[in-house]
Amino acid sequence: MDMQNVESYLDGLYAPDEALERIKRSIADRGMRDISVGDSYGRLLTMLARMIGATRALEIGAFGGYSGLCLLRGLTGEAKLVSLELKSELADLARGNLEQAGYGANVEYRIGPALDSLMQLKQEGQQFDLFFIDADKENYPNYLEAAIQLASSGALIIADNLMLRGRTLNPDKQGPAVLAMRRFNEMVAQDPRIDSTMLSSYDGLAIMRVK
Ligand code: DHB
Ligand code: MG
Repeated sequence: MDMQNVESYLDGLYAPDEALERIKRSIADRGMRDISVGDSYGRLLTMLARMIGATRALEIGAFGGYSGLCLLRGLTGEAKLVSLELKSELADLARGNLEQAGYGANVEYRIGPALDSLMQLKQEGQQFDLFFIDADKENYPNYLEAAIQLASSGALIIADNLMLRGRTLNPDKQGPAVLAMRRFNEMVAQDPRIDSTMLSSYDGLAIMRVK
């Protein structure tokens, strides 16, 4: 058993998940580094969706469809996932993977800069119960503001990569992604419109509830 760290020990206790492993293989087959959300956080997405009875979820950043599948598994009723993805190749990959997993009819991809799609969704009057932010880090503060504006009352907003593999905590790092993530983390802790907590496993995860 791989016991190199706490996360891999805990992840290793679970039975293999065929659909999620197929997604990971599809990413490796394309020669891409796997930046899907951590296994435990994927399970957390499913659990949180179920716990709040979410029917409509919005993710920002599709990548291979791993988080999308985790979200869809937790949705109830007329389950709908809107997935915002900059790159059409990744949206195609994620769409194929979710179709294979049986959720093709429940997902809608919107391709292009997510801020444009978020403005469009707002103009359409759409609302969501659950959000997962996992795209370009420079825009995290903007994505949080948009999510709060698209949120139904009591909605959850989850965000990945708070620690940027250590760069968030390294005072020598002052690039745009790092500055944005520091600002984002402060917003998570201090914005009066939300309750929140932040988890430090993997690369850090924020969980917020819109009041
Ligand atoms: C990386 C990890 C992520 O989860 C992500 O969303 C983007 C990048 C990384 O390890 O570089
Ligand atoms: Mg991520």
